[in-house]
Amino acid sequence: MPPSKQRAVEQLIASHQTGYALDQAFYVSPEVYQREIDTIYLKHWLFAGHDSQIPNSGDFFTFEFDTESIIVIRDKDNSIHAHMNVCRHRGSRLCLDKTGTVKLLSCPYHAWSYNLSGELIAARNMPADFERANHSLHKVHVELVGGLIFICLAPEPPSLAPMRNDLDEVLQHYGFDALKIAEQKSYRIPANWKLAVENYQECYHCAPSHQEFAQVHAMARAPDEFKQLKTEFWQAHKNDLKFQQHNYYFDLAPSACEGYQYDRNPLLKGCVSGSLGGAAVAPLLGDISAYDGGASELMIGPVNFFLLYDDHILGYRFLPLSLDECACDVFWLVREDAEQDKDYALDTLTWLWDTTTQADKAIIMNNQKGVSSRFYRPGRLAEMEHFQQSFLNWYLTNLNKVNDNEVCDK
Ligand code: FES
Ligand SMILES: [Fe+2]
Repeated sequence: MPPSKQRAVEQLIASHQTGYALDQAFYVSPEVYQREIDTIYLKHWLFAGHDSQIPNSGDFFTFEFDTESIIVIRDKDNSIHAHMNVCRHRGSRLCLDKTGTVKLLSCPYHAWSYNLSGELIAARNMPADFERANHSLHKVHVELVGGLIFICLAPEPPSLAPMRNDLDEVLQHYGFDALKIAEQKSYRIPANWKLAVENYQECYHCAPSHQEFAQVHAMARAPDEFKQLKTEFWQAHKNDLKFQQHNYYFDLAPSACEGYQYDRNPLLKGCVSGSLGGAAVAPLLGDISAYDGGASELMIGPVNFFLLYDDHILGYRFLPLSLDECACDVFWLVREDAEQDKDYALDTLTWLWDTTTQADKAIIMNNQKGVSSRFYRPGRLAEMEHFQQSFLNWYLTNLNKVNDNEVCDK
């Protein structure tokens, strides 16, 4: 980016007023967008999918954002690799399908072929001095959290160790090692990706916009009532493993450590899960022995969100497709041994968050239309938007970290 444009972005960041929404330029500027890709999406861990999607050797799926495409594939030794979906000859996409099973990754253009670990093993009619060994696919880092597959495109990804040290026990309690995807939906939203993330992070809009959600989650209540309900809920369960707060939120973590957050919140009286009326929808997860009437919020990395009910888990990720379009991908995870139509029904499992996400899609589209207006001015945030505020603090600090070398010593 030319220095003058860099300076313009830096001035924009410096001019942000804490406690207010972002200036219009953050949502419409190609320079800001480019810097977000560089400092967020190319540097942080992204929730790519679940290992149950690729049970056998050669099974793959592709994962896409902005101009990038990544192949996530299982090798013969059962390990999972991620490769950039870019041929090392003249750059063609290798995998054109979203999912599939292959013996080799063969380029559709001139047929260079790579093994599952990304080494070039065949290139037709090349000069005698051509070295196949120098033409492996670009590797992408992969880490599993239980069966959840995270990838990171950075040469040196931020460490997930603090998150693992803090949360391993609680994630095991939820049976993160023994889940499967019951359903997965992608919602394309014609809006800048931040409007979707900001919307996810605040429940100020829940009562007016999500009746179905507000009938189940105490979080939609006014701040004082919610605090009271939460205090009572925690007092009643304080010795339960699920009731621990683990905050290493993004504005607290040095950039060499990945930020995360875990907290448990009450549902409304009589509700036990995220469903129509808060009814149970699937077998209890992990070694959870009874419903406690709560749901936990988990964030791993800046754009990956999980909602942990006692009987299923929602995975949410937000991916930019371009400056003014994003994808909100939603995953419904249940115990791996749960049987569809016997232990759970897809329509009852997915109803609440499909309904809520459809409503959010409309809200976010309208928000984009408004922030694009010449009459838009950033407004004051409410107390119920404090997570959004923390995200904005982190986001603005992070955008300035084009070349930083903080260390992770937690
Ligand atoms: S671009 Fe892939 S083989 Fe030529
Ligand atoms: Fe919403």
